[in-house]
Amino acid sequence: MILVTGGLGYIGSHTVVELCVKGHQVIIVDDLSNSQLSVLDGIEELCGHRPIFERLDLRHKNGVESLFERYDITGVIHFAASKAVGESVHRPLQYYENNLGALVNLLQGIKKKGGTNFIFSSSCTVYGEADELPITEAAPVKPATSPYGNTKQVGEEIIRDTCKVHPKLKAIALRYFNPIGAHPSGKIGELPLGVPQNLVPYITQTGIGLRKELSVFGNDYPTEDGTCIRDYIHVMDLARAHVVALHRLKEQRNEDNYEVFNLGTGNGSSVLEVIQSFERVSGQPLNYKIVDRRPGDVTEAYADTEKANKILGWTARFTLDEAIASAWLWEKKNRLG
Ligand code: UFG
Repeated sequence: MILVTGGLGYIGSHTVVELCVKGHQVIIVDDLSNSQLSVLDGIEELCGHRPIFERLDLRHKNGVESLFERYDITGVIHFAASKAVGESVHRPLQYYENNLGALVNLLQGIKKKGGTNFIFSSSCTVYGEADELPITEAAPVKPATSPYGNTKQVGEEIIRDTCKVHPKLKAIALRYFNPIGAHPSGKIGELPLGVPQNLVPYITQTGIGLRKELSVFGNDYPTEDGTCIRDYIHVMDLARAHVVALHRLKEQRNEDNYEVFNLGTGNGSSVLEVIQSFERVSGQPLNYKIVDRRPGDVTEAYADTEKANKILGWTARFTLDEAIASAWLWEKKNRLG
C-alpha cells in the first residue's frame, strides 16, 4: 500500500489518480489545511473507487506511528508541506515546524516499521540562480532565499543522512521545476486559496474574469523578451514520474540508497510566451501590465533532463500549449460548472 501525504493537494491528487490507474492501493493523508475534501470526489470518479482517506496533521507523532501500525505501507510519497514562498518569510517557524517536523515524524515512523521506499517533493528552488543552464542535478545548491526554499534543502539533507544509516530506507528526491495544468478530464486541478501567487492560475483566473489583470513582474531581465524564463511541466507528467520513481526504488542499488532527479521538460518559456500560449489555446486576449520585478525571482531556470531520461526512463510528454489548455479547461469547469 502506498501512503500519499498531501494526497488531496495539487500534485498529490494527480499522483493518487495515476497510482490507482496503475493498480496501486493508496492511502491518502491530508490535514485539509490547503486542500478541500471535495477533491476526493474527483479522485473517486477518476479511480473508479474511493481511496482510503485519513485526516491527519503529520506533526502529531503518535498519529504518524499509528498509520504505520495499522496499514501495510510499502512506499511513501511525501507531498504534504506548506508552499507559499512569501508567507514563509513572515512565518519561518511555522514553515520549519510544518515541513521539517512532519518529515522527521514520517522518517521515524518508517524507521520503527523497519524501512520502506520514500519519495520526497523537492524543488528547483534548491538551485537558486544557477551558474549554468540547463540545470543538472550536479549543479551546486545555493543558499536558500526563503524559509520555504530552505525546508526543501534541509529536507533533502535529512533524508540523505537518514538513508546512510538505515539501509532499509531507500529514497528519491524529485526536484520539480514549475508544475502547471490539470487532469485532462477537468475533474481535478490546482485549487489555490485566495489570490494565486503562481503565474498560470493567475492567468486562468484573469481569463475567466475573476481578476482584473495579470501583473508581469519585470520586463528588464537579461532574456530575449525581458521576462523571466521557467520550465513549465504538466502535472500529469509529474504524476507519472512519481509512479516511475517508485519502481526505480525497488531496484535502486547505489550505495547511498538516495538519489535526486530533476523533473522538467528541458525547455524554458518566458512569462510573455506563457501569456501567448494562453491566448492561443483560449482564443481570447489576456489583460496584463508590466510592473516592477518581484523580489527573489531568479532570471532563468530550466532543467537538464538527461538523468531522469536515462535512469528513470521518464520524459515529459506534454507541450506548454497542452498544459495551458488543461489548466484553462479546469478553470472553466471549476468556475462555470
Ligand atoms: N509571475 C508574474 N506574475 C504573477 C505570477 C508570476 O509575472 O502574477 C512570473 C514570476 O515573476 C516568474 C514566473 O511568472 O517569472 C513564474 O512564477 P511562479 O510564481 O509561477 O513560479 P516560481 O518560478 O516563482 O516558483 C517556483 C515554484 C515555487 C518555488 C519557486 C522557487 O512554484 O514552489 O519556483 O523559485 F519555490
